Amino acid sequence: MSRKIVIAGNWKMNMTPSEGAAFIDELKMSVQGKNKCEVVVCVPDIDIAAISAALKGSDIKLGAQNAHWELKGAFTGETSVLGLKELGVEYVIIGHSERRQFFGEINRSVNQRLKTILESGLKAIVCVGELLNERELGITGEIVSLQTKIALKDISAEQMKNVIIAYEPVWAIGTGRTATADEAERVNGMIRYIISELYTPDTAENTTIQYGGSMNAANAAELLSKPNVDGGLIGGASLKVADFTAIIDAAQ
Ligand code: PGA
Repeated sequence: MSRKIVIAGNWKMNMTPSEGAAFIDELKMSVQGKNKCEVVVCVPDIDIAAISAALKGSDIKLGAQNAHWELKGAFTGETSVLGLKELGVEYVIIGHSERRQFFGEINRSVNQRLKTILESGLKAIVCVGELLNERELGITGEIVSLQTKIALKDISAEQMKNVIIAYEPVWAIGTGRTATADEAERVNGMIRYIISELYTPDTAENTTIQYGGSMNAANAAELLSKPNVDGGLIGGASLKVADFTAIIDAAQ
């Protein structure tokens, strides 16, 4: 198995450029030598330049939280992958449930964004996950399957090398309610099966599939011990150096 374990922090709309740079100075020291997983920080657009500078000389990778599917043009308020690349961004989160809930993101636009991100040579963290009522209806599998298949439409096996899937049950995000390790393992395994059907078992084996949703210092080790949980996408607990480092330690 050659897939990477990736621990990615999603700062959401937290931390100003100077707060973020101070955080990175601390984080760099605290994760030194912990190289059994890839560490990524996905920061607000306005922090990117400052964090890119702060990360110089470190192995921590820089991520953004969204990118538009067009390279440039009349799209007020949007962000181009061209600018992200120029500033040293390597990863872009797309399809996050907060984008779906508050900003009209749909499966088709996730697919459009993914194509542009991959064509420009960046990597993507594609978020999928069911709402609470969908879980209660017993259609988690259907929802996650639909989101995954539409997001990956026309994406080649070669391009899949730059795709991470993050399974994030929406009811677990920012709520303190985590999926049990067994639940995360079951859905992540199902996503891997879908990828093997869309591509090959080999592609599926090599795809990093994260869990996200109230992952923290206390529950990370158990979640990450599961064979199909290849890392985490972490919101709240990525905003404190000690907590984020504890999750990185759990992935070692
Ligand atoms: P949380 O957020 O860790 O605060 O639940 C996860 C996410 O939204 O990616």
